[in-house]
Amino acid sequence: MKVIRTITELRQEIGLKRQATQSRESIVGLVPTMGYLHEGHASLMHAAKQQSDIVVLSIFVNPIQFGPNEDFDSYPRDEARDVETARAQGVDIVFIPSVEEMYPQQTQTTVSVSSLTDRLCGASRPGHFDGVTTVVSKLFNIVQPQRAFFGMKDAQQVAVIQQMVNDLNMPVEIVPCPIVREQDGLALSSRNVYLSAEDRQEALVLSKALRAAQEAVDISADTTAADIRRILRENIGRSSRAVIDYAEIQAFPSLEPLADQEKVHGRDDILMALAVKFGKTRLIDNTRLQRAEVLSHV
Ligand code: PAJ
Repeated sequence: MKVIRTITELRQEIGLKRQATQSRESIVGLVPTMGYLHEGHASLMHAAKQQSDIVVLSIFVNPIQFGPNEDFDSYPRDEARDVETARAQGVDIVFIPSVEEMYPQQTQTTVSVSSLTDRLCGASRPGHFDGVTTVVSKLFNIVQPQRAFFGMKDAQQVAVIQQMVNDLNMPVEIVPCPIVREQDGLALSSRNVYLSAEDRQEALVLSKALRAAQEAVDISADTTAADIRRILRENIGRSSRAVIDYAEIQAFPSLEPLADQEKVHGRDDILMALAVKFGKTRLIDNTRLQRAEVLSHV
């Protein structure tokens, strides 16, 4: 495995590796991350390994996707451990550019997806998705992968990137991968390290709320979007420390909000999504509604 820090060297190395698998067109799989890797990231590397010939992992804490009052400076970093995790997953190349390498001069070009980014995390983190789509476009241009792997943990990010790829005819297949959770249900996140022991326990209300909403749909075919919103809020409200940013239900990937009276039974294009703060730490989680096997005569 090679650890590479410059764009020039990365291009050379990918070129060499492509030549080594000459017999056919090799598939380059890219896993973009901000590091401090956990099992969620590992699952993306695993999927990439299965579906690509050459796996490139990028580790870059991207300053332009953080707001002025967000945690760019304190974002957790552990390069040595990340490199070992990548090695264990069979990654071929780890790309760890500096901020100067990615943004050598005042940037004048931004890639921006419009309406999909107005809602949910886009509403509470202005400019965040412009930062994401700009850096992901740059990574796509630098690595030129045939496939790129993203976690459904950031479902809106998946929708936004897929929209960008469609709109700009980028020749890359976006592969969404399932959310990896702790045994007790908490979705893995690099930011979980910020949680105090007490908040770590209270944070279970997110996954519990999503499960309670799914159960309501399983039990009653009449469950409406308003019911789901209420169940989500009630469950999160069980933690006195939780402050809800949003608790929403919408179509996926359009992210169109569902009207209150809409019934959700029998639909499999629906996403319930949460963003909740515990102190300064903002956690997100979501679930695609499973098509309920409700027996209406029961
Ligand atoms: P980061 O938060 O490091 O996440 C990198 C990738 O890992 C994302 O696709 C994210 O959805 C996925 N991921 C995180 N936690 C996960 C979990 N519990 N289960 C499955 N996948 C999980 O997302 C970013 O970085 C950045 O915005 C990036 C795309 C790298 C652009 O800077």
